[in-house]
Amino acid sequence: MAFLIHQELTRLLVRYPDLKNKRVLITGASGGLGASIARAFGEHQARVIVHYRTRGQGAEQTAAAISQAGGEAVVLRADLRSEAALNQLADEAWMHWDGIDVLINNAGVVLKASALDAGAEYWDDSLNINLRAPYLLSRRIAGRMIEQCQPGVILHNTSIHGHKSVAYFSAYAASKAGLESLTRVQALEWAEHGIRVNAFAPGVVPVERTEQALAQAAGDWMPHLPLGRYGEGKDIAELALFLASEASGWTTGQSYVADGGMLSRIDMPRRPRPELPPLPDPLEEPKS
Ligand SMILES: NC(=O)c1ccc[n+]([C@@H]2O[C@H](COP(=O)([O-])OP(=O)(O)OC[C@H]3O[C@@H](n4cnc5c(N)ncnc54)[C@H](OP(=O)(O)O)[C@@H]3O)[C@@H](O)[C@H]2O)c1
Repeated sequence: MAFLIHQELTRLLVRYPDLKNKRVLITGASGGLGASIARAFGEHQARVIVHYRTRGQGAEQTAAAISQAGGEAVVLRADLRSEAALNQLADEAWMHWDGIDVLINNAGVVLKASALDAGAEYWDDSLNINLRAPYLLSRRIAGRMIEQCQPGVILHNTSIHGHKSVAYFSAYAASKAGLESLTRVQALEWAEHGIRVNAFAPGVVPVERTEQALAQAAGDWMPHLPLGRYGEGKDIAELALFLASEASGWTTGQSYVADGGMLSRIDMPRRPRPELPPLPDPLEEPKS
């Protein structure tokens, strides 16, 4: 009985049946947004390579959740700052199921620091993980897709920082804006091979790394969030599922923001509700 209920619930969660059995490689799926996205693919019975660097236990938990939901999962480790490690990850992932259909470049680091304080090492570290690694991993996987005449999807997890600017995030913002630009160029170069490349740009979503600070600062944040709440992992996962599935089959080179409306606001002082002006002049109909 419990199994039947579980099966029925899983069926209800499946909105993109074409994702079943799809071979997905997602980086940084040991926690945070990557884990939420990987689990959502598991609910669609996809086969998922769960990548991590330090949080092996988190990656195993993600993999277990995927298997429990009816998908298949394998855990692989790599430090994405190393080109050799990154190539090894791509090759092992490709060999495991004889191909990859969806690559999600999700791993990233957030550096909050003044441009006057953070020197070359900080800049290089952020840019290596957030921009160089997605570039190198994409070309490794896309190269194989093209070689084997296999269509596919590449998704980049960027950020609202790739669209608008906030002080003290220079390396992060530059890396994410670069990734937005890379999305468009890769989409143009690989469209003829049936490879679609899109980005999703999350707003503020509490993850293990940030949830305590964001809970404490909720009062400061809410006025900036028209929908009145922080994002959740599933808000971002939904976008990734849509962009990976055939439902978005005519979409490439785009970036989709999921931010509770944050970027739509013009930052102006809050003003009282205005009085309704007098009605406009009545319409003058032409005399026949
Ligand atoms: N949460 C948000 O509000 C938000 C908003 C906009 C964009 N994003 C983007 O979402 C992505 C995921 O971030 P998150 O918020 O979910 O944070 P997170 O939980 O800290 O996840 C970051 C992931 O990246 C991996 N990673 C970091 N450095 C790595 C390296 N050198 N090599 C390989 N993997 C590495 C981490 O692996 P280990 O933990 O296993 O080391 C982890 O799985 C990032 O690209 C971030 O920029 C997040």
